[in-house]
Amino acid sequence: MRRARTIEALYERVGGIERTVNKMMLELLTGNPKPLRPMFYAVADRTEGKVLVGAEIGTYRGENAKVILNHLPMEMLYLIDPYIRVGHPHRIPEAEGKARRRLKGRTNVTWVRRPAHEAVSLVPDNLDFVYIDGNHEYGAVRRDIQDWWPKVKDGGILGGHNVTLAGVAKAFFEFLQAHPGYRWHVRKLDWWVIKEANRAREMKAKANRH
Ligand SMILES: C[S@@+](CC[C@H](N)C(=O)[O-])C[C@H]1O[C@@H](n2cnc3c(N)ncnc32)[C@H](O)[C@@H]1O
Repeated sequence: MRRARTIEALYERVGGIERTVNKMMLELLTGNPKPLRPMFYAVADRTEGKVLVGAEIGTYRGENAKVILNHLPMEMLYLIDPYIRVGHPHRIPEAEGKARRRLKGRTNVTWVRRPAHEAVSLVPDNLDFVYIDGNHEYGAVRRDIQDWWPKVKDGGILGGHNVTLAGVAKAFFEFLQAHPGYRWHVRKLDWWVIKEANRAREMKAKANRH
């Protein structure tokens, strides 16, 4: 380890070590090192004591799914992933095995081993949330948003991960342009929009009056 040149640099390093130790303690104590992603705090805020039904598009090794299941009162989580190589670097067969082992014994998950556009008709309507974290290319995200927006219940949330990728951001902001009046958020790598049709109609009418 290099020597810290200033007292500030030293403090910063000590702070970094403290954060790492805290994270390790949390991991040891809870067995749950991964934090809940920002969109799911919004989902939790709107839960109002009810159980939830949602979908994750792109499950990979099941890490995020496990965090969702550990933190939210899920009646059912649909896990959508074709687990076939579609031109990206993830090692898919190994990932599926890991996901299955990680979520073994959970009775509130349904595996849908299909690409997102084929899974739409296999998952019920009126979902509390849909989290898009599959193929992050522009065309794929655009299609996922279009396909899955109607699946979300009024008051539910549609969002996803990796908004710093150009294709994801473009697809999201184009959607917002085409659907004015909906409340939306970007926090850390998550993006999401709250599907409140009445509010959107009111906001649109208000904007047209001015
Ligand atoms: C970034 S990983 C998902 C990571 C996971 N959400 C997590 O945070 O733990 C992307 C996954 O999307 C899947 N995928 C790729 N194209 C897809 C599609 N069209 N529909 C659903 N999943 C897809 C891949 O097989 C891969 O497992």
